Parts: sequence; structure tokens; C-alpha cells
Amino acid sequence: MQSNILDPTPSRMSDAIPTRPAASQPSADQAAPTRRVALRDSAKAEAGRYRIIEAIRSGQRHEPAVHAELANLTDAETIAKIDDFQLWYGKNQAIHHVNINVARGKVTALIGPSGCGKSTLLRSVNRLNDLIDGVRVAGSITINGRQVFGPGVDVINLRKRVGMVFQKPNPFPMSIFDNVVYRLRIDGERSKSTLEAASEKALRGAALWEEVKDRLKDSAVGLSGGQQQRLCIARAIVADPEMLLLDEPCSALDPIATLRIEELIHEIAERYTVLIVTHNMQQAARVSDYTAFMYLGRLVEFGPTKLIFQSPQLPETEDYVMGRFG
Ligand SMILES: Nc1ncnc2c1ncn2[C@@H]1O[C@H](COP(=O)(O)OP(=O)(O)OP(=O)(O)O)[C@@H](O)[C@H]1O
Ligand SMILES: [Mg+2]
Repeated sequence: MQSNILDPTPSRMSDAIPTRPAASQPSADQAAPTRRVALRDSAKAEAGRYRIIEAIRSGQRHEPAVHAELANLTDAETIAKIDDFQLWYGKNQAIHHVNINVARGKVTALIGPSGCGKSTLLRSVNRLNDLIDGVRVAGSITINGRQVFGPGVDVINLRKRVGMVFQKPNPFPMSIFDNVVYRLRIDGERSKSTLEAASEKALRGAALWEEVKDRLKDSAVGLSGGQQQRLCIARAIVADPEMLLLDEPCSALDPIATLRIEELIHEIAERYTVLIVTHNMQQAARVSDYTAFMYLGRLVEFGPTKLIFQSPQLPETEDYVMGRFG
């Protein structure tokens, strides 16, 4: 375990979260006026300063700022390629010409204001948007070189290869054990010893084994929120997916449960590659290796998290991660 939000010298957070000069950190009673000044300043700064955001707002094509490290990933280093991807809900276009290379064995975070298309993009990777009427896509997404869209794709198999965990833990109303091995049973696995071994492995992988090993037959609904979310992660990893998609997995959890999940994300990323949506800038800085900043369905800047938070290429990214814009 490398980083811990309770540790005063965590490797990734202290590296990634920019420290502001003391003078710019207001006391509680100064905070409101300071924030108003900051917003006024940022409104002034916005005019003419946000080159890409202005192009996006005026509907022009733009070149996002993609840092060289990501632009130069080799095929072996890339697990998923999102290539000129577009998506429409009926007539409304939610994703425009997005290119993102997801680095193998790393955590990539999607950030951006509400409605910018983060969940839509995430759900596209395992085709959960197929369940919504009127969805149309263009461009391509590949995982380990295999097309996600297109004729002949086995969507059930795709969702096994690409697990997903949602904002709100959603254990099935059955025992802890039955939840974890659900996917394997659907695939026809009936051997008790195989299911037991897989359940233990997945629960250990989700850092839940020690807490539940004596009550595997209890209802999953009786677990705490944080435990339920780790159970959902166990359920997602039991079939050994190639990738895990996490859509704001901590937003319904308290800080301690959030910490456990963040630690877990570090641990599982190497094996499962994680693409995570988060609204929490500190979380993005703590857990991710790479960060993609989106706005109105477009990619704005994509780079190593440390650079996105400490020295982004665009002023709009800097202002967004500092909470001054968006
Ligand atoms: N099922 C749907 N049907 C129609 N439009 C949708 C649907 N889901 C999302 N949208 C639209 O697509 C756009 C992107 O939404 P999305 O939920 O992907 O954003 P988001 O970045 O995840 O936002 P948030 O941070 O609030 O979760 C929004 O304009 C939204 O209204
Ligand atoms: Mg969302």
C-alpha cells in the first residue's frame, strides 16, 4: 500500500495535490468573500483565457491537450483505445470525437463538470448504454485489440471481460457467497469447491474476506455500505475481468469506507486496470495515474495525474482542478 489519506506523507496525494501559498488559504470566516473574489477573477480570466473551452462552447472542433506520455503509449501498454468516439441519445449528442488511451495496469480517472459525459463514456466501454432506447454511436472502442461495437460482439461476454461498479452499492438480495459467485454460476460452474475457492479469492482481492469469512451465508444486504461496495468489487473481479469500470464508487460512502475503497483501487489496478469516474478532485489525485478532463462531451486535457494537478497545459484545467471553474 503506497498511499493513505490519513498518512501525512502519502506518496501520490502529496505529490499530486498542489499546495497553495498560505496567504491564499482563507480562514473559515474569510472564505466566502475570498471565494467571491476568486470567482470574479476567474470570470475575467475566462474571457479569452480558456481557449479550448471557448472553442467547445462555440461548437468548433478543437485539439485537446494530450500529454506526450499518453500520446506515445505503445500498443502493449494500452489496454483500451477509445478512438474518435461519439454518442447520441436520440438527437442529443453527449460525446464528441473523444480519443483516450487507457494504460494497462494503471488507474485512469475521468473528471469534469456534471453532465459532461463521464458516465456515458464509461458505460460505453461495456456497452451498458445499449439498454437505453435511441442510443447511437460512431468511432470505435477496442479492448485488448477487440472491437466493443460492431457485428458479432458477444455483449454478455464483453461485460464479463469489463466489470462495472456503480455509485450506489447494489448487492443482490441473496447471501454474500451467492453474490460473489453469481457470474460463475451463470456461466454454468457448479463445482462447490471451485465456487468456494473463487469466492475466497475474489473476497480477498476485494479486501473483504477477513470481515465476512464466518458469515458467507448471511444476506449481503446486511453488510455496511462500504462492505457492500467491496462485495460489488468482489463480484466484478470473480470472473477475472480485463478491466474494471468504477462510476463514483465512493460517493455514497463515509470517509473511512472511502479510504478502504481507495486503497483497494491501488491494489487491484495492476491486475485489472481501472477506469474511474470521480467528482472528488482529491480522490482523482490520490488514486489515479492518469486523468482525463472532459467538458460538454469533449476531451479537454489528458495527462499524468501529477501533471494535471500540478502543472496542466491549459489554464481551464488548472482552474477546474482548483475549483475555480466549472
Ligand atoms: N439515459 C439518458 N437519456 C438521455 N440523455 C442522457 C441519458 N443519460 C445521460 N444523458 C445526457 O448525456 C449527457 C452526459 O450525461 P452523463 O450522465 O454521462 O454525465 P456525467 O458527466 O456522468 O454527469 P454527472 O457528473 O452528473 O454524473 C447529459 O447531457 C445527460 O443529460
Ligand atoms: Mg455520471
